Amino acid sequence: MAGLRIHKVAGALGAELSGVDLSQTLPDSLIAEIRQAFIEHQVIFFRDQALSPDQQVAFGRRFGPLNIHPYVAGMDEHPEVMEIVKEPSDRTNFGGGWHSDMSFLETPAIGSILHAIELPDWGGDTLFSSQAVAYEALTPALRATLDTLNAVHSAGREYSASGHSAQKRASMKVVEAEGAVGEYIHPVVLTHPETGRKALYVNPAFTTKFEGWSKRESKPLLDFLFEHCRSEAFTCRFQWSPGAVAFWDNRSVWHYALNDYPGQRRHMRRVTVDPMPANSMDPVPHAQLAKA
Ligand code: SIN
Repeated sequence: MAGLRIHKVAGALGAELSGVDLSQTLPDSLIAEIRQAFIEHQVIFFRDQALSPDQQVAFGRRFGPLNIHPYVAGMDEHPEVMEIVKEPSDRTNFGGGWHSDMSFLETPAIGSILHAIELPDWGGDTLFSSQAVAYEALTPALRATLDTLNAVHSAGREYSASGHSAQKRASMKVVEAEGAVGEYIHPVVLTHPETGRKALYVNPAFTTKFEGWSKRESKPLLDFLFEHCRSEAFTCRFQWSPGAVAFWDNRSVWHYALNDYPGQRRHMRRVTVDPMPANSMDPVPHAQLAKA
């Protein structure tokens, strides 16, 4: 193998890595290089990877334990592997809005690894936005205020029985979540445990309000942040090809699956990496069950 090559794809975040076959059992030194690129570039991409579900699981486990999604059933033989499918007859898609995966959990996932199985003839790209660059672009005064705040996150809007996913995505195996959706509090600004870099940690899909504020009081500042955080200068865009893989850091990246391929099928497989238990990687040590 000629060695890992890294090409940035945009100014704020994103790099394409080549010279590696993810289906193989890679040496620890190469995993360390990939991990370094993941932390530095926040989202990394690979092309032309022939990965079985077993191989995708094995690669994901090199970075931490894999999450089993509480509301979307995984593959029968591989509960950690979520099949993200939009059938030609589906009108909405999974992930079609800016979000950070699993921020609604007590201990959110650190990363997601998405593999392209079948793609539409055109469209179906994914956008990513650096919440570290978004934070750094704010004034010191607003950053100082945000540093002191916590926010409430909930899966209710997406996964309750009346939620977007449950109602609209018949092609995904969305599990009934009425009454089971908890609320958790996370800091509005996360400090990355490995780099010390700060990033905003609120998102339109799962953040409902600031801790101690009403929803009405929270809305203007959340709306401002949601608008700010998707600024073009903070983003990169990935055009998928069959076998491509994207691996993003949910602690500092939002993503958005574009729904611009009506009448066509798109099939992806995702594994989601949790933090190591009792390890300094824990992204949100202050997480707690919301009281209100
Ligand atoms: C997701 O939100 O994990 C799905 C992203 C995609 O399908 O591009």
